[in-house]
Amino acid sequence: MFALKSLLLLVAIASANALSSTLQQVTANFGSNPTGVKMYQYRPTKLATPTPLIIAMHYCTGTAQAYFQGTSLAQLADQHGFIVVYPNAPTSGGCWDVASTATLTHNGGGDSLGIANMVRYAIANWGVDASRVFATGTSSGAMMTNVMMGAYPDLFAAGSLYSGVPYGCFAGPNAWNTQCATGQLIKTAQQWGDQVRSGYPGFTGTRPKVQFWHGTVDTTLYPQNFWEEIKQWTNVFGVSQTPTSNLTSNPQSGYSRASYGPNVQAILAQGVGHTVPEHETDTLDWFGLTNLTPGSSTPGSSTTAPVTTTIPVSTPSPTGATAAHWGQCGGIGWTGPTVCASPYTCQVSNAYFSQCL
Ligand SMILES: *[C@@H]1O[C@H](CO)[C@@H](O)[C@H](O)[C@H]1NC(C)=O
Repeated sequence: MFALKSLLLLVAIASANALSSTLQQVTANFGSNPTGVKMYQYRPTKLATPTPLIIAMHYCTGTAQAYFQGTSLAQLADQHGFIVVYPNAPTSGGCWDVASTATLTHNGGGDSLGIANMVRYAIANWGVDASRVFATGTSSGAMMTNVMMGAYPDLFAAGSLYSGVPYGCFAGPNAWNTQCATGQLIKTAQQWGDQVRSGYPGFTGTRPKVQFWHGTVDTTLYPQNFWEEIKQWTNVFGVSQTPTSNLTSNPQSGYSRASYGPNVQAILAQGVGHTVPEHETDTLDWFGLTNLTPGSSTPGSSTTAPVTTTIPVSTPSPTGATAAHWGQCGGIGWTGPTVCASPYTCQVSNAYFSQCL
């Protein structure tokens, strides 16, 4: 009896997780991509028309494949008919460039330009609704979500980020910023807001609304970053730093959801470390996609069939090389050089990042 029940449960789980499609790499030239970010997409067999797009960005050590498997966005894409693009970070450590001036500048280059061009490509070729493009991510991917919203506010309608830091908090010559990560980079709301505005000077359009999640016992990206994000985005939207509402036990026990008008939402998770687990249906609600259903039209609503290949099993790792000054030389998941070019030595910043200093 027990065995039968277990079997039935397994069957139920298996069918609940069955997807209509697979993760595929987009090998078409999608535009300028100076750092070589790879583009993967999950396109359900039935799409809503026009089709919303979610850009889902992985954590350090992560991959497009891992984020595809580790979140339920693809299952939700089947239910609702949107496309998910999973960019894959070009460094072997799997962290996004959230520090360079290039990445923090509209059309300035860096990882952000490659991702922006994925969005532009999807709008131009797949029938994606330009007014319903969204960004989400975890940890480094959360930081990158803020980068995309700051540098490309013209492309995104909303963002939802899990355990990140404010836009520009990592700015500087190093890929990892310990001062920011440990919550010691404190700025005024005006300064944080100015930083966002500097990402795309002169932008006067509607900015993406932002929802961010953070755990109170995060020791990788300290929770002070949550409070700095509140300062930043309330300033960008010109609203008070005092919440208009703060719902406790929402969306679950230990969490509180503070709202600052319709465009900023800050969810604090008591006793949760790095990272806050994805709450995909909540994120979808923030994006306004909860009631979206796949249209009766075929996936051929796109004008160009996507060029796809199968997913590589592994990425080649560089061997025998030395890392340059400021370069990464270690950390969980790092497969690049671990020796620094003379006279620099490899110094540990944290479990995820060692650097030639
Ligand atoms: C919302 O309320 C909870 C519970 O009182 C509190 O811990 C949290 O700091 C509040 N959130 C904000 C952003 O003020």
